[in-house]
Amino acid sequence: MLKNGIVWKDTQGNPIHAHGGYMIFHEGYYYWYGEDRRDNFYVSCYRSQNLTDWEFRNHILTTNSKMEGYRVRTTLKLINEDGKKVNLERPKVLYNKKTNKFVMWAHFENGKNYLDAAVAIATCDTPDGDFTYHGHFNPYGYMSRDCTLYQEEDGTSYFISASRDNADLHVYRLSDDYMNVDCLVHSLWQGEYREAPAVIKGKYHYYMISSFCTGWAPNQGKYAWADSIEGRWSSLKEIGDETTYDSQSAFLLNVNGKLLYVGDRWGGDGDKYFESGYVVYPLKETEDGLEMIYQDTAEFE
Ligand code: GLA
Repeated sequence: MLKNGIVWKDTQGNPIHAHGGYMIFHEGYYYWYGEDRRDNFYVSCYRSQNLTDWEFRNHILTTNSKMEGYRVRTTLKLINEDGKKVNLERPKVLYNKKTNKFVMWAHFENGKNYLDAAVAIATCDTPDGDFTYHGHFNPYGYMSRDCTLYQEEDGTSYFISASRDNADLHVYRLSDDYMNVDCLVHSLWQGEYREAPAVIKGKYHYYMISSFCTGWAPNQGKYAWADSIEGRWSSLKEIGDETTYDSQSAFLLNVNGKLLYVGDRWGGDGDKYFESGYVVYPLKETEDGLEMIYQDTAEFE
């Protein structure tokens, strides 16, 4: 039984560092990716067949990761001018069937402030191998902070990120190889300052849950719905309570038709503010909208 709100342990009894994370299902396993700010790590990967027993796989992105530019002009920087770590937040990974690569998109900052507001890309031939870092850039010159990825069944995928100092939420369609943005599809909820976007397709609609901008402190989550990612999105509606039951959205899962919200309960103001405990709250889809159900324990099925 996984208790909501605490840092869960992997199968070796070590704390799971997959904060601000993401999950994909690939060849019989769920892979969980997330932030790991210890030592020289950036992103760690765990896997599970039952969504409860998590096996640590690899520190897939570190300060020592191999770097390689690609056709998009990027800045290859995994250590800043002061010799310190940069920030790589909210890493998301998709499998690209056409290129047979696992492609990561993450929020990049220079480790000193949040002014770069850029997106970084990395790739690997396996879901949990050593990723090659391809650097960071600003899509069409836009600021890009909190982010997520969403993949359709036919492979069409989207990158969604907070732009204009977080005021607007941008939705970009990805190029076929997932190595660039192909076009800007939407600039949503102008001036509403949404962070931590997470998308899922349910029985009736697509849903996007996001938070307001209050740093590491939790706030009122909101959701919106649409009939397609590129179609018209509804206005924002409240979900959960005024602290989203003490959490901030990380990602959403559809497990055999059951919709689940996975959130971070960040460490607070101490020096572990960037370490989160995890929560799983079921989402109930009705014809009137989406509801979040508070639970003390995480039930994935
Ligand atoms: C918000 C974001 C996090 C991180 C912190 C930094 O909580 O969602 O990803 O950027 O702010 O303050």
